[in-house]
Amino acid sequence: MSTTTKKLNVNIAVGPAGRAIAQPMDAALVESFQYHLTMERNASADYFAKAIWFAERELNGFALFFNEESKSEQIHASKFADYLIARGQTVLLQDIPAPDQSWSSVEDIMADSFRMESDVTTSLHNLYAIAERSSDMRTTVFLDPNIESQLNSENEFAHLLGRVRFADNQSSAMLIIDGELTAGNHSPLSLSN
Ligand SMILES: [Fe+2]
Repeated sequence: MSTTTKKLNVNIAVGPAGRAIAQPMDAALVESFQYHLTMERNASADYFAKAIWFAERELNGFALFFNEESKSEQIHASKFADYLIARGQTVLLQDIPAPDQSWSSVEDIMADSFRMESDVTTSLHNLYAIAERSSDMRTTVFLDPNIESQLNSENEFAHLLGRVRFADNQSSAMLIIDGELTAGNHSPLSLSN
């Protein structure tokens, strides 16, 4: 179903926000975009809460890492807002609940983060499928680099979860990982570079 509602007097279609649009967006796709944007904002709030959890426990490297992750999730949300605006849609911001801060361990936090990243990937795939069904190539082109960078995030969290599991809750090992994160080292090995 088209979300185009009006026409400018020069016979150019406009979207719900009144901006000129070249191609209407499928209503289900717009709804899923709004939902995805909320997921990114939720992830930002969640990572900020995790940064605080680590700062309270003197694990500054983890705290810095999660603080940066929180900022990049907000940037992801902004990218989706930019895209909806570019397509003439109205961005509808939804409620962001307070994050659940009852984590029991570093491993618990890393596993929770990995699960969250994996849910974001699923949501992106869902957007892609709807865009393909509605022959919306503008959207598939927009999503391609975002999906690739999302896979990198998943890979990174799988790596950090693996490191934390390997540390097995030993303080000295955990402090080594914390030092690595302070130095900005959080990527899995790349054998191809
Ligand atoms: Fe994200």
